[in-house]
Amino acid sequence: MDKDNIIMSVENLIIRFKLREDILTAIRGLSLDIYRGESLAIVGESGSGKSVLTKSFLGLLDNNGWIESGNILYGEHNLVEFKDERQWHKIRGKEIAMVFQEPMTALNPLKTIGKQIRESIELHQGITGDDAKNETIRVLEDVGISNAKYRYNQYPHEFSGGMRQRVVIAIAVACRPKILICDEPTTALDVTVQAQILQLLRELKYKYNLTTIYITHDLGVVANVADRIAVMYAGDIIEIGKSEEIFYNPKHPYTWALLSSLPQLGKRGEPLYSIEGTPPNLFHEIKGDAFAPRNPKALKIDFVERPPYFQVSPTHKAKTWLLDPRAPKLQPPKSIRYIGRLDRGDIDGE
Ligand SMILES: Nc1ncnc2c1ncn2[C@@H]1O[C@H](COP(=O)(O)OP(=O)(O)OP(=O)(O)O)[C@@H](O)[C@H]1O
Ligand SMILES: [Mg+2]
Repeated sequence: MDKDNIIMSVENLIIRFKLREDILTAIRGLSLDIYRGESLAIVGESGSGKSVLTKSFLGLLDNNGWIESGNILYGEHNLVEFKDERQWHKIRGKEIAMVFQEPMTALNPLKTIGKQIRESIELHQGITGDDAKNETIRVLEDVGISNAKYRYNQYPHEFSGGMRQRVVIAIAVACRPKILICDEPTTALDVTVQAQILQLLRELKYKYNLTTIYITHDLGVVANVADRIAVMYAGDIIEIGKSEEIFYNPKHPYTWALLSSLPQLGKRGEPLYSIEGTPPNLFHEIKGDAFAPRNPKALKIDFVERPPYFQVSPTHKAKTWLLDPRAPKLQPPKSIRYIGRLDRGDIDGE
């Protein structure tokens, strides 16, 4: 993880929203370095701030939201200082592109998909006519749509959910962005399709020299495809590391809980582990470790002081007091201790 290889640096970001007379803090002092060419997964339950965080990279926060403080450094820009749409136009789509959660709303139902991709190519690559059409077909093939010449003339409703997602990705990569953010459809796609889309992103990463960010609730989906995983809870990244570090050596009790609830670990005939309680109310100031009220083994200090990052390896860190040298040595729950071995097939998950 080379400092020179950072493509974007988020520093101490705080994002708030105003709802009637109340103020909610959606992102609570979050920092994140993103490396050129990596595929990063951001994982966390609904409301943890995944979309708000990534929308702020594109100046797309809802009107009642604002960046209270912090920096988003990209090239020579600090995106937090952008004031008007003209500045964002240079970044949005061209440098950083986002594929949204609902592919159907991202596509125009009245235009053929060929036309929609082609418009994006004409606008961003400055080519027209047959060249633009051929390039469109090439991009369609790149995103894994077979029979692209024929598909070119079809309308969005003639595509399945997964195929539509590919079309939306095609429109995004046609602008040749450096960073591609993909906000997973929450309901529309099944797990197999999700995995295929992730695999596609991985291929495109090489073909188009992309840095990719994949947003999901489902840790299971990203296991084999993400280089790094950032685990979000209540507006902050509470643990981040290489994919194998998060799976085989997780440190934060919330990451433990997420791993424990993976269906792959469930024993047949037993109910799946689920995380008790609800996420904290973001309208109030959160004291200590935000996960403490849901953590049956929380320490006293967890309710008092917010933990800093403790470094686990040069590439792995977590915000939990359990990593303080003075903390009691607590083992992760039994169910997840064997993930590494299960994966390698050493034991058969009795
Ligand atoms: N326009 C808004 N006004 C008020 N609160 C908002 C607004 N947009 C987002 N929030 C709040 O910010 C928090 C983070 O929301 P966000 O949409 O980023 O969550 P998420 O992790 O993307 O969830 P999901 O997995 O459901 O998409 C939530 O508490 C949400 O209610
Ligand atoms: Mg979201």
